[in-house]
Parts: sequence; structure tokens; C-alpha cells
Amino acid sequence: MLRIALLYGGTSAERDISIKSGEAVWAALERVGHSVLPFDVGTEPIERLASEKLDFAFIALHGGEGENGTIQRRMEELNIPYSGSGPLASRLAMDKELSKAEFLTHRVPTAPYEVAEEFEAEYRIRRMARRMGWPLIVKPIDQGSSLGVAKVTCLNEVHDSLKSAFKFGPRVMLEKCIQGRELTVGVVGNRALPVCEVIAPTGFYDYKAKYDKQAGTRYDTRPALPGPTAKMAQHYARRAHHALRCHGYSRVDMMLDQDGELWVLEVNTLPGMTETSLLPKSAAEEGIGFDELVQELIDVSMEQRRRPISNRATRVLAA
Ligand SMILES: Nc1ncnc2c1ncn2[C@@H]1O[C@H](COP(=O)(O)OP(=O)(O)O)[C@@H](O)[C@H]1O
Ligand SMILES: [Mg+2]
Repeated sequence: MLRIALLYGGTSAERDISIKSGEAVWAALERVGHSVLPFDVGTEPIERLASEKLDFAFIALHGGEGENGTIQRRMEELNIPYSGSGPLASRLAMDKELSKAEFLTHRVPTAPYEVAEEFEAEYRIRRMARRMGWPLIVKPIDQGSSLGVAKVTCLNEVHDSLKSAFKFGPRVMLEKCIQGRELTVGVVGNRALPVCEVIAPTGFYDYKAKYDKQAGTRYDTRPALPGPTAKMAQHYARRAHHALRCHGYSRVDMMLDQDGELWVLEVNTLPGMTETSLLPKSAAEEGIGFDELVQELIDVSMEQRRRPISNRATRVLAA
């Protein structure tokens, strides 16, 4: 039995989702027999944890300082072991521009892109878009939950898409739109979970498709995929996870194009953790129930923190 702080809530745009993940993880931790201290990072100063006798912190935050490495650094300073990736990996994964640079260095296939800054003249950004071709995706550099992400099909749509993406920050990514199927692969410890396909009726996995049950998004944890695609997706998921120096667990989003090529979109260091979220769904496909998964995430996070990841990561990246 461990004394575990459950960090949830926070102040990011994804606060509501984090409360849902937090509630699900809290219930699981209690069922497993741990003693839980629920802690809303959005309403209490994190320093208060220093006065608690804690064995571990489970981070059920999404977006903002919970996912960008800030909270992880505070945990290091407070000397509290915590779930998932450290400050550097969290920062790299949260920032899609930094992630791309690591993907390119470590041979993780990722779609062509350019970065636009808020101060740039719009005609220059429109020129960028034209160079890339239609359709393209416009997205904020460091948001999640598809907030501010738009599919742009012609020059007329560029202005509005920039306006909503720049609401989230001064740097925006223009990325080639990969037409095809959307896959996501969980990584726990050093192993990739079964591939899950996301089937959004509109073909675009936006905020509504993610969280509104009425949107009718389907998830297939046994997708029919051609030849070696599933194995390759798992291979790239582990490679992307290690390229960003992730610890413990993550979930890697990717697209499968019409020629059968895979393109990694991003690594989520704190993926959704409700019982129906994607990582728990994929774990269930392997016969791992939600409570067991939560305990495994604690175990791998503790285990990996005790020893350096460099050897294992080097092996995966060299493969
Ligand atoms: N290059 C792309 N090609 C096709 N679809 C994309 C592309 N980039 C993003 N998307 C769509 O937008 C969704 C959200 O984008 P993503 O990069 O994963 O950001 P977020 O961090 O908000 O989840 C994806 O799940 C996918 O449906
Ligand atoms: Mg995503």
C-alpha cells in the first residue's frame, strides 16, 4: 500500500478532461488498496505536497503545466516519485515543433511542416500554405485535445484557421494533411500495446469527435491492417517514445496514408485515463484491466526512474 497524491484538474484548457481522468484513476487506486490524497493543482499550491508524507504522485493532468514538464520539475524538486515522463520529455512532447526536430533526427516518419509566427505578415504565411498544397492542417504548437486544430482546403480558409490557432500561442504549425486512417499506439514500459484505429465519422478527430458521444466516433482495437502495418506502427510508437526520452508510458498518434506509409503526428505523455480512453482500451485488448493498468503505470514509472533509460532507448533507436 502506497500513499499516493493524485494530481488532477489544473488550469489548462483540458481541465475538464483531467477531472474525468482523475476520478477514474482515483477509484482504481483505491480499489487496488492505495491510500489516495486527491489534489487539484488548479486550486491548491503544489508546495503543499511538501508537508505530506507521500510515496508517489500519479499525474492525471492534461495540457498546460501538467503536461509540459513544469509539474514534473516541481515533483523532482520536492523529491516525490511520479508517473510518466520527466521534465525534458514532457516539454519535447508537448511542443510539436520540438518533437518534429527529434523525430527527424531519430528517423521517425513525420509529415512535412512549416512554422508560422504571429508577427509574420499573413501574405507570407499564405505563401507557405500554397507551397505545402491542399488540404493542410493548421495547429497550435503546444495544445492538446485538437483545440485550435483545423483542416484547411483552400486559401480562403487560411485566415480563420490562423486566427483560432494563434489564440493558443504565438507559434502555429502548418502540416501536410495525411489522408487515410488514424491509428494510435500506447507504450507502457518498453512495450507497445495493440494498435487502435480511430474512426471519426467526419474523417477529422476534432474536439467534438473526441469527447462528444453524439459524434459517433468508433474505436477499433482489432483493425484490419495490411501486411506488416501493425508491427510497423508499434515499432514507430516505441521509436517516437524513445526519441523524446519518454519514461513509463505514452500514447503515440499517427496516420496511415493511402500508400500504406505511416506518419507520426505526436506523442502524448499524459494520455486520457478514463476507463474508456484509448490507452486503457488498448490495454484491455491485451487482457489488462483498468486497475491493473494503473498499477502497472506506477510500477514502470518507479522502475524506470531507478535506472537510466539510455541503454534501452539506444537499442530501440538503433533498430
Ligand atoms: N497532418 C495531419 N494529417 C491528417 N490529420 C491530422 C494531421 N494533424 C492532425 N490531424 C488530425 O487532428 C487531430 C489532432 O491533431 P494532433 O496533432 O494529434 O493534436 P492534439 O495534440 O490536439 O491531439 C488528429 O487526431 C488528426 O485527426
Ligand atoms: Mg493527438
